[in-house]
Parts: sequence; C-alpha cells; structure tokens
Amino acid sequence: MCGIIGYIGSRKTTEVLLKGLYALEYRGYDSAGVAITDNKDLEIIRSVGRVSKLEEKIEKEKKVNSTFGIAHTRWATNGEANEKNAHPHKIGKVTLVHNGIIENADLIKEKLINEGYKFNSDTDSEVAAALLDKYLKENDTLEAIDKMTKDLTGSFAFGIIIDGENRLYALRKDSPLLIGVGEKENFLASDITAIISYTPKYVLLDVGEVAVLEDSSLKFYKEGKEIEKEILVSDSKGVDHSKNGYDHYMLKEIMEEPVVIKRLIERYNEEENRKELDLSEYKEIDIVACGSAMYAGLVGQNLLEEFAEIKVNVYPASEYRYKKKIYNTKTLVILVSQSGETADTIAAMREAQKLGIDTLGIVNNPDSTIARETSRKILTNAGVEIAVATTKAYILQVCVLAMMAFVSGEKKGLVKEDFSIFSELPKLIKEVQDRVEEYKKIAKDIYKKESCFFIGRGLDYALCMEGSLKLKEVSYLHSEAYQAGELKHGTISLVEEGMPVLCIITNKELKDKSISNLKETEARGAKGIVITTKDLDDFDEYEKIVVPESSQYIVSMLIVPALQLLSYYVALNRGCDIDKPRNLAKSVTVE
Ligand code: F6R
Repeated sequence: MCGIIGYIGSRKTTEVLLKGLYALEYRGYDSAGVAITDNKDLEIIRSVGRVSKLEEKIEKEKKVNSTFGIAHTRWATNGEANEKNAHPHKIGKVTLVHNGIIENADLIKEKLINEGYKFNSDTDSEVAAALLDKYLKENDTLEAIDKMTKDLTGSFAFGIIIDGENRLYALRKDSPLLIGVGEKENFLASDITAIISYTPKYVLLDVGEVAVLEDSSLKFYKEGKEIEKEILVSDSKGVDHSKNGYDHYMLKEIMEEPVVIKRLIERYNEEENRKELDLSEYKEIDIVACGSAMYAGLVGQNLLEEFAEIKVNVYPASEYRYKKKIYNTKTLVILVSQSGETADTIAAMREAQKLGIDTLGIVNNPDSTIARETSRKILTNAGVEIAVATTKAYILQVCVLAMMAFVSGEKKGLVKEDFSIFSELPKLIKEVQDRVEEYKKIAKDIYKKESCFFIGRGLDYALCMEGSLKLKEVSYLHSEAYQAGELKHGTISLVEEGMPVLCIITNKELKDKSISNLKETEARGAKGIVITTKDLDDFDEYEKIVVPESSQYIVSMLIVPALQLLSYYVALNRGCDIDKPRNLAKSVTVE
C-alpha cells in the first residue's frame, strides 16, 4: 500500500527518492510522484503506473537542482488512480505525501472551501495540506502541525515540505513511518527497505511526535517541546531484487520454500527452542489475521484442535476489532502477518492487549509494528517477499502453526510421532515442485474457464480457501472455496457444463465423503480434478495432482506449493501481471 520516502542531504535527491520508491514497489501501488526543491523552486512530477514511468518523466521534465524532496507510491483509496490524485499535493505553502485515510476529510474540505480554498484532486490528502496551510497563517510550523493533527481523524503518516523552510517534517498516526539517520543526511520512509542501502540507523516515530529533518540536524518534538528519541539499528538486508533466473518473483519465492522452511525447522530441532511453540497452557486461542494469513490460521485451527485439543477460533482482523470479545483467563490471541503492518491486525492486537490478554505474533518482517509490540513473537524469517501474492511467507505461517500443534500436543501426551517428521519437509516440497509439467497441463485445461470451485472438508477446506484466493488474485479467474458437503445447499446451482471443480483430499476418513460431493458436481456437468496424496490416490479416472504420502502434521505444506504453482501457470496462460495483480497492495495499512 502507499509508500513514502523523503531525503535531505548532499546526494542527488531524485536518485535517492527513486531508489526508495523502487524498494517500496513491492507494497503495491498504482501511481507515483516526487516533489523536489532547492528551497527556492519546487517541482512536482507525478505519473500513473510504474515507478519506471515516473523515472522517465523525471528525466525529461526535471529542471530544479534539488537538495531535498519527498516521494510517494499511491494505492488509490479516496479518488481514482490518475495523475491529479497522485501525490505529492501542494496547497499554498504546504507540499505533502500521505499514507493512510483521513476519515473526516469531507467535513474539513467543506469548511475550507467556504474559507476560499480550491482543491485540484479528489483525495483526502490534499485536504490535510490545505488545513496545514491555513494554520500556518497564524502559527509557527510546529504549532500548525499540532493543530492539524488534532483536527484529523483516521490514519496518517505525512512527509511535508513548507515553502521557504530548508527542512522536512514527518509525523504519523497508525500508518507506519520511520526516520533514517545518516551522516549529514536524513531520511524518512514507510519502511526500512527504502533506505537500508544508505543507513541501518533509524528512529521510530510515536503518535503525536514530529520529526524535523535538516541535512546536519535531526530533532523530535512532542506538543511543541523537543524530546530525545532512541536510535535503533536494523539488521535488515534490504530487498534482494534479483529474480535468480525465474521469470517472476512469485515463481522465485515459491521455489525458495524448501530453503526457508529448512531454516525455520532447524531452529526448532533444538528442543530448548521448541518451548516457544508450546501453547498447551491455553484453553482457547483466537487466531486473528487477514487474507492468506487468516487462511494459514484456518489450517492452524484444524491442527491445534485435532492434535493439541485446544479450542481455536479464527477471525478476519477487520471483523475482530469491532466484535464483542469473550475471553477467559486462559485465552491467547495469535496475530498472523507477513508484513506485521496490516492495519486491522495491528488494531486487533492492541484491542486484546488493552484487555490484558496474552498476544503472540507470527510475523515475517522483524522490524514491523506487530513484531515490536506483541508480547511474544515467532519470526518466520522468509526474507522479503516482492510478489504481491504471498507464497513462501504463507507456507511458513502454516509450518509454525503445525509445529505449535505438534509441540502443544506432545506436552499433553497426545502425540505419537517424532518432531523429526518436520525435517522431511524440504525434500518433500522439492518433490512437489519438481512436478511442474503436471501443473502446467492442468493450467492449460482450466485457464480459459470463467469460474471454478475448490472443495474439501476440514483441513482440506482450509487449504481450498488459500488455493482459491491465490488463483483468483493472480489470474483473475473467478474462484470460490466451499466446504464439500455444503455446496449442495444452494451454491451448486452455479455449477455449469465444463466448470472445473478442484477437490482436495488428504484425509483417509473424509476421502469417500469428499469424492461423493465431487461426483455430485460432475453429475451436473463439472469437470472434477483431484488433489490428493500418494497413499489415497485411486483416482485414475480424474485429472489429478498427487503429492507424496506424509504425516498429517505436514501434509498441508505439500498441497500448498502445488496449488501455488497451479495458480502461477494459470495466470501465466492468461497473460496476467503476476507479481503485481491489479488493485492489490502488499502491505494493507488502512482499514
Ligand atoms: C494474498 C495476500 C494477502 C495477505 C493479507 C495479510 O496473497 O498476500 O491476502 O495475506 O493482506 O497481509 P499480512 O500477512 O501482511 O498481514
């Protein structure tokens, strides 16, 4: 979602800003822009589409020999994705970039229009610029910023330039923003990846704090008074932009799964480290997350209930934060998040913390808000995911939850197998990945279809949810996941001649039930495709994907890469923009 970078110092401003924007591309966006200045002239250059288009435009149009500037990638919320809505916005003396949503923008805009302000865009961000400009007429800059902040409701992070001031201002509420600390240069950025090639040192801004950045000075203020802030050092390696010979980041990241899963499991081969995974003390667990992370939670729910006998509820964070919570003293809230910056998941975490409930984060980004603020955390350490659709981070979320089910069940004396079953995973996943020709063949058969279903029961249904999401988000082929037994209660009316119905079967006890449900769809013209394990495979009459036989603790992680690769090849056949599907953002930092 929107990314911000700002720079002041002696390097070439546009170079730093563009490099930062490229590093932030993975968050997802649909337009981009820069504002650069030499403290006399200020130039704003914006364009719809990729940062590379903005770079071309800057090369053609740039006149100012700038010494500082701000830049932005925008994921449209208020107002469509066009050039006039792209950031930065300038009203009066104020030029700014904004990440977040200002909820009372319409109300403020109306008042400002009555006071004579004119607006050029449909954005809420421009309203903040006008409001600050208004307050600047009667206050010094810090007072004006405080007044503007108090008037705004919603979420925001701002990078601001004021005409005639040789400095940048930065502030935030709910949306992420950090300040990069350099030698005779300073930065502001939505995340560390945008500036890590210049400096690992950064300061986290808290709500109500304002950073004032000059090339040789960096100051922080709260309610007009200067405050001290701790300088942190990131060990982030930044974003590896190489595709390692793969055509897409999505494919590269799927193929990295054996390596990242091996790294994760090796940590827990140490018995001492496994204590981190033990949830046996809890009577009830709420898993709260969004999208794929929530679907990882659904897999976890099945495993924790089945193998550790702990009651688990799974909620989308956007619903959870506003619902009545019924906790008991032995409830744990698990937040699952790749980015650790998903606005709803952060809010759900804070809600639980406010009520004194234990929280545990399963997080990929070690520098993120959830990683920092949760009382207990497990880092998945997948490395940065550049493709918008999550793959390697998702499988690691599933793996952590599976290990939690194992360790918690073992503590309760419910487990007969040995932890070493997890060590088989890298090899088995590689075997699944090696069967590329099978996925390509099925992809060829289904890519022209308009719609399809994924069906399964129990754990298999949880896998269907992610399989279906992955397919629709990268290939735009409409897909629905359904509990196999539930389809006939209405939704089966959508089944048409030739519609693919993909049935996942990994559980011996549920095999006959699921296959009967598949046959019900075939009787109405559907084309059944079975995704199963070698030991259960007697499906020669079907087109099928067969993964190796394995323990129930790890089987889901063999189905996952098969589904991911199938989605990838369907998207490839449909000519989609696989790494940056339309309308999507990697890091969803607004509600
Ligand atoms: C789908 C996908 C999203 C994310 C969701 C949560 O491929 O990536 O559904 O899983 O937006 O994001 P995180 O995990 O960053 O909280």
